[in-house]
Amino acid sequence: MFDVTKDDVLLNLITTDDQNVTEELFAEARENRKEYYGTKVYFRGLIEFTNYCKNDCLYCGIRRSNKNAERYRLTKEQILNCCRKGNLLGYKTFVLQGGEDPYYDDDRLTEIIAAIHAEFPDSAITVSVGERSTESYEKILKAGAARYLLRHETANNEHYGKLHPSSMSLSNRKKCLFELKKIGFQVGAGFMVGSPYQTPQNLLEDLHFLRELNPQMIGIGPFIPQADTPLKDFAQGSLEQTLRMVALARLIVPQALIPATTALGTINPFGREKALNAGANVVMPNLSPVEYRKLYALYDNKICTGDEAAECFMCMQNRIKKAGWTPDLCRGDAA
Ligand code: 5AD
Ligand code: FES
Repeated sequence: MFDVTKDDVLLNLITTDDQNVTEELFAEARENRKEYYGTKVYFRGLIEFTNYCKNDCLYCGIRRSNKNAERYRLTKEQILNCCRKGNLLGYKTFVLQGGEDPYYDDDRLTEIIAAIHAEFPDSAITVSVGERSTESYEKILKAGAARYLLRHETANNEHYGKLHPSSMSLSNRKKCLFELKKIGFQVGAGFMVGSPYQTPQNLLEDLHFLRELNPQMIGIGPFIPQADTPLKDFAQGSLEQTLRMVALARLIVPQALIPATTALGTINPFGREKALNAGANVVMPNLSPVEYRKLYALYDNKICTGDEAAECFMCMQNRIKKAGWTPDLCRGDAA
């Protein structure tokens, strides 16, 4: 057993290239995950409903200043159609993700959430639309959403400042996460691994923050450069280090729902399977209409942009079974 209350133990695991230690770490992460979730892998249907964004995060392909991004918004009816498709396939969780798009003010956003909730009352609705006011979060909750994803991106102030414009702050991000949790959302935090200027110490701080927040969900993926961003010339995050961070997140928050992210699947053909092996227990296949997929280009070479919802669904089912896990289509609430 690794003593993850000790920073030197954590730092060693963050940076190790020892295969035996890594295998031991993954085995312990799998044990933890098994204790709460058995061999189940939960499915979330992802709907990327707008790529407009008022923010200008330096790593992100849908940042405001990217004039090459072709922008789109889905209508309520288009979004409902994605849910209907997902529902027929058996999904019981829908994730509405988008940039920070002012068009979706509280009225428009809650109308969409309420419509999904009315049509699919047994399904969990997850929202991921960035930083908003507490009142806005309360309205979203009241409209029928139960979960909110907001990656903190990095828990170090100075590092946060190198990845974001001065109009954004880590303190506000953290404040949002604590507020979301307080008002009753199941919350998801998370970060990129190998983002520009990141140090092992920064990753340690990410783990400390996870321990402090104790979120229900944790999203971790490698940084992948996007050609139309200021950080385009930086190297992508390492597969191995990302997997170790997934495992460490599992040890720090044993009951967390942790996705095997699309970004991991993008940097390695078996990245998502490897993440499951390192303690992840969720996948988020895409339900967005195929004609918009490519436009939601947060980073380069994103996978699954040409596949119909049903194809992604079948592909993930098969991959999960082949890797020895059990696809599970229930709502998959945190243990
Ligand atoms: N590489 C990897 N992940 C990225 N994200 C945004 N841009 C990139 C990138 N270039 C992630 C952020 C965000 C999530 C929706 O996508 O962590 O929270
Ligand atoms: Fe989309 Fe495999 S998950 S094609």
